[in-house]
Amino acid sequence: MHLLIPAAGSGRRMGSSRNKLLLDLLGKPLIAWTLLAAEASPTIEQIGIIGQAEDWKAFDAIATSLNLSKPVEFIQGGATRQESVYNGLQSLPRYTEHVLIHDGARCLATPDLFDRCADVLISCDGLIAAIPVKDTIKVVDAVGVIQHTPERSRLWAAQTPQGFSVPLLKKCHDQGKQNGWEVTDDAALFEQCGLAVHIVEGEETNLKVTTPVDLAIAEFILRQRLG
Ligand code: CTP
Ligand code: MG
Repeated sequence: MHLLIPAAGSGRRMGSSRNKLLLDLLGKPLIAWTLLAAEASPTIEQIGIIGQAEDWKAFDAIATSLNLSKPVEFIQGGATRQESVYNGLQSLPRYTEHVLIHDGARCLATPDLFDRCADVLISCDGLIAAIPVKDTIKVVDAVGVIQHTPERSRLWAAQTPQGFSVPLLKKCHDQGKQNGWEVTDDAALFEQCGLAVHIVEGEETNLKVTTPVDLAIAEFILRQRLG
């Protein structure tokens, strides 16, 4: 199974001057942990890192230092995550049937989560890892007044990996481009095209490192994990 890793962001909400994926997390750059999880998952055969050209050298040095057994390719990132994934899809070998897409920023996903997603992807065209929402979520209007409260039992927080049939996801990305749909994950494009996306139970610890607090929490979780 091919794994695409969107890693071409700037980390604006982290407030750092460089890509947050290069920040230190317990002695390794953040993206190194993501790569180690992919390396340890028996179902991942090839890894595509989608990054900005300015980061390629650093990513290459990280991948080399980890002595990965799996082939790693670098793909030019875009201005948005959506564009980055679009580029990643174009880079896949012709006739690739399925792909897993996993944000570089979700550096705590376990190899088991990759494997479970890959297993489910054999029998469906679209899936995402997700967990039940713990908070009560409010939908708010432009002036900060609550419009309604969706029933919590039906709400799931989307994570990655997200897995898809490659021909179908390419079609959805093309449709999205034509219609100017702006989305923050690939499942949203699949949904807009009327295609089914299944939920695979994700992991509470599979957080997306977005702000400095997330980085501190990630460090705590890793410390516990490594004993
Ligand atoms: N990403 C990408 N290409 C972009 C923007 C984001 O590949 N043009 C990637 C990020 O590197 C990250 C994932 O998409 O692994 C999720 O994005 P996010 O957490 O929003 O990261 P950033 O965009 O870097 O952060 P921010 O939005 O705070 O700037
Ligand atoms: Mg972003």
